[in-house]
Amino acid sequence: MGSCDGRVAFITGASRGIGKAIARRLSAEGASVVLSASRMGAHGKLQGTLEQAVSVIQAAGGKAAAVAADLSDPAARADLIQRAGECFGPVDILVNNAAAATMKLPSQCSTEERSRMYDLNLNAPIDLAQQAIPAMKARGAGWILNITSASAIQPALPYRDSKLAAWVIGPYGATKAALDRYTEALAHEVAEHGIFVNAMAPVSIVLTQGADYVRDIARENPDMAEPVEMMAEAAVELCSGRHVGRVVFSRNIVHEVGRQVRSLDGTTVLGDAFLEADPEATA
Ligand SMILES: NC(=O)c1ccc[n+]([C@@H]2O[C@H](COP(=O)([O-])OP(=O)(O)OC[C@H]3O[C@@H](n4cnc5c(N)ncnc54)[C@H](OP(=O)(O)O)[C@@H]3O)[C@@H](O)[C@H]2O)c1
Repeated sequence: MGSCDGRVAFITGASRGIGKAIARRLSAEGASVVLSASRMGAHGKLQGTLEQAVSVIQAAGGKAAAVAADLSDPAARADLIQRAGECFGPVDILVNNAAAATMKLPSQCSTEERSRMYDLNLNAPIDLAQQAIPAMKARGAGWILNITSASAIQPALPYRDSKLAAWVIGPYGATKAALDRYTEALAHEVAEHGIFVNAMAPVSIVLTQGADYVRDIARENPDMAEPVEMMAEAAVELCSGRHVGRVVFSRNIVHEVGRQVRSLDGTTVLGDAFLEADPEATA
């Protein structure tokens, strides 16, 4: 028996990186998973496609399907929860993971760049939650997990790299800080309906393609790098019904509840001292 048996989970940004890891781990807990990204196939130099991620889960015996939509486009995401629900039934667990960061300093990030980032990182999670909540309320149960970032809070001085910090906690960090607050507010609103809304960030860096710009920093400072399995394990914990209105770091919540970190297929207890060098290098 998995902790998510009988539930349908919808995970955005699941073609690679953290989203794919969470989808695999939720599947290992028994959820039927619907994965989303902006497109089904490959694009540019980026590795990992929706089709491949679905195949990995199906090959492990899981129920998985994919729906593509550009989440930065309000029209493209307008019916996404309905489309996801057509795969295995209504969405019980919504993981808002997709996001992007525009490499611009706060004084130089244009209106257009900021708008696109706010749409993908903030408005899309809110829209998807609003689409999912009516059916969750009707069933008296639901789980919404927003993936946020340590960039939402001010890093401790001295900065390791002031320009990088200005970029990270600036335009991108502002979208995540807003998402954190929205998470807390939404949790207050819908908790009475049995809907558990939480947000979770890596403590520092998970070596995904999205973290390419800090890859060298993480490799020089192994203490800053976090295995993707830690995020996936914390996601399962936050979709357990034991937490509501929390904005937490992955490792902190895993330690708080004394949870053991497992491999993404759920079969092996890993502990948390190990370091997965690069989740993109594994299936
Ligand atoms: N990695 C880290 O160290 C780190 C640190 C702090 C917070 N986070 C947060 O963790 C989450 C996942 O990060 P990651 O590093 O795994 O990211 P990633 O490797 O860049 O993957 C991003 C995912 O989002 C999808 N995506 C991007 N733009 C999209 C769009 N317009 N519409 C729909 N889907 C889109 C991508 O698929 P397509 O490109 O195929 O659309 C991909 O599946 C993000 O919320 C990020 O802010 C990550």
